[in-house]
Amino acid sequence: MSTQRKIADLQARKRSLLSGGGRDRIDKQHKSGKLTARERIEKLVDANSFVELDGFVSHRCTDFGMDKETAPADGVITGYATIDNRPVYLYSQDFTVRGGSLGEMHAKKIAKVMDMAMKMGCPIICINDSGGARIQEGIDSLSGYGEIFYRNTMASGVIPQISVILGPCAGGAVYSPALTDFIFMVDNISKMFITGPQVVQAATGEAVTDEQLGGALTHNQTSGVAHFKYTSEDECFAGIRSLLSYIPQNNLEDTLLYTCSDDLNRLSPELNAIIPDNANKSYDVRDVIEKIVDHGEFLEIQSLFARNIVIGFARLNGKSIGIIANQPKVKAGALDIDASDKAARFIRFCDCFNIPIVTLTDVPAFLPGVNQEHGGIIRHGAKLLYAYSEATVPKINVILRKAYGGAYIAMSSKHLGTDLVFAWPTAEIAVMGPEGAANIIFRKEIEKAEDPIGKRQEVIKEYRDRFTNPYTAAQRGYIDDVIKPESTRPRLISALEMLQSKRENRPPKKHGNIPL
Ligand code: HXC
Repeated sequence: MSTQRKIADLQARKRSLLSGGGRDRIDKQHKSGKLTARERIEKLVDANSFVELDGFVSHRCTDFGMDKETAPADGVITGYATIDNRPVYLYSQDFTVRGGSLGEMHAKKIAKVMDMAMKMGCPIICINDSGGARIQEGIDSLSGYGEIFYRNTMASGVIPQISVILGPCAGGAVYSPALTDFIFMVDNISKMFITGPQVVQAATGEAVTDEQLGGALTHNQTSGVAHFKYTSEDECFAGIRSLLSYIPQNNLEDTLLYTCSDDLNRLSPELNAIIPDNANKSYDVRDVIEKIVDHGEFLEIQSLFARNIVIGFARLNGKSIGIIANQPKVKAGALDIDASDKAARFIRFCDCFNIPIVTLTDVPAFLPGVNQEHGGIIRHGAKLLYAYSEATVPKINVILRKAYGGAYIAMSSKHLGTDLVFAWPTAEIAVMGPEGAANIIFRKEIEKAEDPIGKRQEVIKEYRDRFTNPYTAAQRGYIDDVIKPESTRPRLISALEMLQSKRENRPPKKHGNIPL
């Protein structure tokens, strides 16, 4: 064969790869409101930047008539590209080819790009749309999943791993996304479950739709498995690009430095009036965040789950920060099981990837209740203490209002190694709230008093005057300064600049044993 014919043959082979599982299956994919694996990559990455690897890989299965079946690219498109000019590795499962099912060679392709992402220190983006283990390939499929889970674990804390669920993701297959850092889902397209609705009905008698069982809303609002929810694939890709802008390429690199045109000395006088005079009234802590950060831009993560704590990324002077803030609007900002899990995992992500942590505290307590106790609030709350104590990135806390008891300690207190703790003059730092404290320590005086109600009010006032302010803690050096709310932005920016050179070591060990 002449060289010209060989080149023409190559082009024909490549063209045939592009048609995936064929026109009919592509039409079916589009009719179900989904893009194809290749269209997804094109929409996600910089124009013309995607380079495909392993397009010619094919399966080796001979069982169940598979020796006569082809599977273009073996049902998964793999390669590398750039997003906003930064390299990423990615794979995108092709549902039009054998339902995107994962067999031996499909898994090997994924493992190869994961290994390359690790070697080159680049984020990996995993687009899932698959019927799960390729049934014809039996144990080789299971082995493939195991290889991927192992690599997800090795990559954890080294490169950012992002999972995008754009179709079914069922059975043990869900554990690869679960091992990654962030899970993106889209309404009516994404489904994640260990066992689908039919098995659930057979096993437990519960009737449930696949969307109710494992759709985007369920996993963003109820289970907390997912981190972001969108109504379309296009919005989802924009969300991934936005997330990438806040995080570094790997654990040895810093995040990008953006030019900041927002005044570094900008005061926010609105913050002087944001805390209501009545301690039982609430406000939206996201309003505080928006006033402080560059251009008011805040990328909230898990915005629908455990809404009593707010987490997400923003920038101060062009540098990424992770924010953790109690939300007084929901459950008065108390820490419960889900809030503790949510915040602890985010703190650990920030610490893995050199992102300073800014905490905004307004917390009345760990949430009391039988459900909380029996659900293990002790174990889950401990995660928060552990994560803050373990983190060696710059840590700054601003106590806006309440900081009571164990929750005071857990929310980035000085005692857990926080570098700088500021308090607003509205801060109340004490073992517990004045009403509860008065009932305990002045119980006898109240009972004996001629006017018990009046006496109770008197001792509550006494306690409040003594403790519900930041100055007792400031006298001990537990907070570093009391600042005017309006000056929070400039104070945080100068603090972060000072902490930039922070170096802090931990005792050598294999790894700690976080209470999981
Ligand atoms: C091989 C599969 C497949 C699979 C789908 N296909 N799943 N082939 N192995 N697991 C093929 C179908 O035969 C079909 O081929 C094509 O993909 C599209 O599938 P449809 O059923 O036509 O699509 P749809 O109606 O949209 O239904 C999608 C689906 C359904 C809900 C995902 O296909 C399904 O239930 N698949 C089986 C899911 C499953 O039980 N997987 C194994 C789970 S166990 P043609 O040629 O007709 O286009 C598992 C263990 C993992 O994954 C453990 C890891 C540790």
